[in-house]
Amino acid sequence: MIGVCIPLGPTPYPGLMISRGGSASRTATPRRYLMCPPEHFAVTYAINPWMRPGEPTDAATAMRQWAELRQIYLDLGHDVRIIEPVPGLPDMVFAANGATVVGGTVLGVRFRHPQRAGEAGAYLQWFRDRGYPRVRVPRQVNEGEGDFVFTGRVLLAGHGFRSDEAAGTELAEVFGLPVVSLRLVDPRFYHLDTALCVLDPDTAMYYPPAFDDAGRAAIAAQFAELIEAKDEDAEVLGLNAVSDGQHVVLPVQARSLAGQLRERGFEPIGVDMSEILKSGGGPKCCTLELRG
Ligand code: ARG
Repeated sequence: MIGVCIPLGPTPYPGLMISRGGSASRTATPRRYLMCPPEHFAVTYAINPWMRPGEPTDAATAMRQWAELRQIYLDLGHDVRIIEPVPGLPDMVFAANGATVVGGTVLGVRFRHPQRAGEAGAYLQWFRDRGYPRVRVPRQVNEGEGDFVFTGRVLLAGHGFRSDEAAGTELAEVFGLPVVSLRLVDPRFYHLDTALCVLDPDTAMYYPPAFDDAGRAAIAAQFAELIEAKDEDAEVLGLNAVSDGQHVVLPVQARSLAGQLRERGFEPIGVDMSEILKSGGGPKCCTLELRG
């Protein structure tokens, strides 16, 4: 549901409006996303603990769920661009792993596992073909927005399972932004975007056990407001969510988390990505934000 917000004059916090119901609400900004239809979706190999190649998957269901996600973005007024899926690359639907794009600069990806290596060139080419002026080929292993999350001020760089720790240095060089490194410690939350979601530059939701003490302290230092996900929400990849500052698109199964978001003035929008989850992904994994 998309609520109607009425500004009621000056509020104590800039950007914060009072909704009709009287509770604090947030401000959305239009976004541009890149998505890849799951035409060739399958689980044919296991490179994370969610993937079970022996179990059946259904590309038609994956496609229906993906199309629903895309429609949600369109209904929210966001711009969605599409990249053509490549046969033989069943994980290409996870566009978040295709690049990192901030201020029109594109840092390409280099995958940890050979099964996904072919996706890197396909995504790079998409940006080159569209005339992006600065497209950089990475030296270090980095899995794009799966592990790199832009807060609006700094880049958070997850490592431990996929992206190299040293990729953080490369990230800082390419974007000229401060980088905060975060070590991931639980293999179920192998990409940063499975364990943390930036809701706006001051607010994030995260799963504390996915990080070490230093990581939790670094996260606390970055955000004025933090929502802690419960085990049952993290375990359905509830944190693999996409926020436009007001609406938060998240797995429909993450019910408590949706309640926590509502309490804080966000508008949760649940989407069923159960088929995609069989490969260890959710709404955010299927979405790459194109900034600037
Ligand atoms: N099967 C994919 C992999 O293990 C899932 C990628 C999910 N993407 C993400 N941004 N977390 O690489």
